[in-house]
Amino acid sequence: MEVVVRSDAGEAGRTVADIVHRALRNGVRTLGLATGSSPLLAYRELIRRHRDEGLSFAGVDAFLLDEYVGLPATHPQTYAQVIRREFTEHIDLDPARLHAPTSTAPDPVAEAHRYEEALAACAPVNVQILGIGTNGHIGFNEPASSLASRTRLKTLTDSTRRDNARFFTTLEAVPRHGITQGLATISEAHHLVLIATGPHKAHAVAAAVEGPVSTRCPASILQLHPHATVVLDELAAAQLQDLPYYRHVARHKPAGQRY
Ligand code: GLP
Repeated sequence: MEVVVRSDAGEAGRTVADIVHRALRNGVRTLGLATGSSPLLAYRELIRRHRDEGLSFAGVDAFLLDEYVGLPATHPQTYAQVIRREFTEHIDLDPARLHAPTSTAPDPVAEAHRYEEALAACAPVNVQILGIGTNGHIGFNEPASSLASRTRLKTLTDSTRRDNARFFTTLEAVPRHGITQGLATISEAHHLVLIATGPHKAHAVAAAVEGPVSTRCPASILQLHPHATVVLDELAAAQLQDLPYYRHVARHKPAGQRY
């Protein structure tokens, strides 16, 4: 696993933007997008490059990692609305090529199957952007998720609902379920790029990067992936034991390259 430590969140965001930019220049046509606050600076940088440098997303298919179940489609906190507002409305991605599970599907189990199949039809995702929850989740794969899991309906933990309550008026308003790509589904992407910033992520990052591969920390599955990049700011990297080595590598190798 490649661990890239940057001085601050802005630098971390630019590093992720660089990886996506390079992939698009090399002809990549399928991206995996995450919501949450972690990738926002990367998205802002990609929007800037689209506006100022002509970076184009024409012909790209983008798949969301996950979606809340039960929110009306127009609710500002559905992940489909968030990603449009924060990213895709500001670039030239064809809105018909933005794919997400439907939050209002009457049968969420069937909807999860439909989404897994839609993804398979466009697979592989070339670059998959990921955040990490404070409990080590990726997407909505909460602790105890099978490492072999596919896209499915998941019950959210109390800690995830509390963490995400800042986006809602009350804790009660946070949905209790989500549809998420499974850990095995996510692992089929060619390049996994996880971004984490801030001291509240340091514990989960250390467990994911240096802990055992375990369902207790779903993000630890990145250790099994042949091309995974973890981009951190100093605060999120603070609990890593091998920090000096990661800094050494960063001085000698561009982020995202496979050596
Ligand atoms: C949510 C999302 C995840 C996201 C995580 C971290 O629960 N389902 O995809 O990575 O929270 O969010 P944030 O980046 O806001 O800390």
